[in-house]
Order: sequence, then structure tokens, then C-alpha cells
Amino acid sequence: MDSDEVLASEILGHGAYLCLRRSSGGDAGKAAAAPIDALAQRLGLRNEFDPGETPPVESIAFLRRQGATPADIADEAVLQADWVIHVASKRPETITELSAETARLLSPAVQVHVLQGVRRPRSYTGAAMNKWAYERQVVQQPGTAMPNGFLVPMSKTAEWWRKDWMERHTYFLPTYDEQGRMRAEGHALATEAGIACLLRRTYRHDTHPAPDGAYDFLTYFECADRDVPTFHQVCAALRDVKRNPEWRFVREGPTWHGRRVAAWKELFS
Ligand code: HEM
Repeated sequence: MDSDEVLASEILGHGAYLCLRRSSGGDAGKAAAAPIDALAQRLGLRNEFDPGETPPVESIAFLRRQGATPADIADEAVLQADWVIHVASKRPETITELSAETARLLSPAVQVHVLQGVRRPRSYTGAAMNKWAYERQVVQQPGTAMPNGFLVPMSKTAEWWRKDWMERHTYFLPTYDEQGRMRAEGHALATEAGIACLLRRTYRHDTHPAPDGAYDFLTYFECADRDVPTFHQVCAALRDVKRNPEWRFVREGPTWHGRRVAAWKELFS
């Protein structure tokens, strides 16, 4: 049997979502005054709120809570987060330092819970899928144009991870019966409506399956206000196991919806 050894294992980058929650009685004024922007600057992180022509590789983003919806995996740190910071870097030390310093600067007013992952080459995407699903996808836009951010952490079941990669691959394409009629759209076709309007970003745990208490995937999306219904439609299509049998093997954490803001202090205004 073919095994995961044929999948690319190279690490292209590192990323984390810091889920921040105000402690009971925590002094938000003190948290707002913490020098997080200066820390980001010292670490060479550019703000994604204004990504410019080429979205930055070493980056930071700030999101203020709009709401959150629980799902299969109970996770109070995500569900109750008041704010989320995204940090991306080629250097794992940058993520470690940003996370540790943020926790230190905000303690005890704010609790920090870190979800961390790596970026790897895609596993199931050949040339045609690359053209279809990635070359025409929207790239990151300024926060004013696409103010919504959605964090959707998830894992796949042990049954999924027992499957050979070739079988796992089949869930991303449509399947057909003996007469050639489409039986199920699969992941890629079910989500087509999102390609042009949803920015997508996925970090993986650096081992698969992830250990207990960690997620296999940290998925994240950005979109304009007018495209929020498309985000929900695309998620509904993925969760419909008749259209997308892959989701039988998915366990989702909470979906956290935030508003992108331009600077740390704006989280508190
Ligand atoms: C918006 C349109 C979307 C398109 C076109 C799309 C397409 C794809 C494709 C082609 C892959 C395979 C990547 C590879 O080769 O490894 C993939 C993987 C993945 N997608 Fe999507 N996707 C979309 C939306 C979503 C959404 C909304 C979610 C979650 C709510 C999601 C979660 C994932 C996850 C977790 C993986 C990795 C799965 C694995 O490796 O087992 N996707 N997606």
C-alpha cells in the first residue's frame, strides 16, 4: 500500500492564532495600553490589515469578536475568545516569542490560548486542481474591503487517518455511479462558490493525526460583508454528507467570527 511517505513533508511556514479572553475583573484599559504593536514591529511583522500588492509572509492581524458557534469539539478558549491575533512567520521562534511576550504583557487581565500549526505543500492538488481552486482564488485584501475573519479549527477521525492517502484523495473530487451520474460533489466542487470571494488559509498540525487536545487543521477565511452568506453556504455544503461524504470524518471546533482591525488598540474601541 502507498503510504503518507509520498506526501510532501516540507515546512513552508509557521502560524498561530492567539485566542485572547478577558479574565473576570480584568482591566481592559491596561491591556489596551500594552505595547503589542511595538512587539510586532520589533519582530518584523507587517500588519495584514493593509497587505499591499504582495501579501506579507511575516505578518500579524488583529480581530475583534463578532460571535462564535459551538460544534462537535467543546473548546471554551476559542468559543469565548474576545479577540484573536494571527501571526505568521517562516521562523518558529517568531511565533514562540510573540505568543510568550503577549501572554506576559497582558497577564493577568487577559488569558492567552495559542493554536499553532505549519504550512505544508498541498497533498491532493495536481496541476488542474491548482488552476481551478487556487490560481483564481481571491488573495488577501485590505481589512476595509474584507472585514470579516472566520476561524474554523477541526480534526479528522481515526478512521480517516487509517485510510491510505489515495483513498483520502478521492473525497476532494466528485464521485460517479456506473451510469456516469454524479453521486456526490466532493469537497472541491461543493465549495466552488467560495473560490472568488473567500480568502482561505490552512495550517496543519506538524504531525498527523494531531495528539489529543490539538487540532489537525486550523482553517481561516476572510470575506467582504456581502459574501458572508457565501461563507455560510460553502460551510453548509461541506457539512452536507450527501454532497460531501468527507465530512463524515470531520469533527469541528467552534466557528469564531471576528472583525479585522488595523491595530492592537482598535480591539478595544
Ligand atoms: C472556499 C472554497 C474552498 C475550496 C475551493 C476548497 C478546496 C480545497 C482543496 C482543493 C483542498 C485539497 C488541498 C490539498 O491538496 O491538500 C482542500 C483542503 C482542505 N479544505 Fe478546503 N476548500 C474550500 C473551503 C473550505 C472550507 C470552508 C473549509 C472548512 C470549513 C475547508 C477545509 C479544508 C481542510 C481542513 C482541508 C485539508 C483536508 C485534508 O488534508 O484532509 N475548505 N480544500
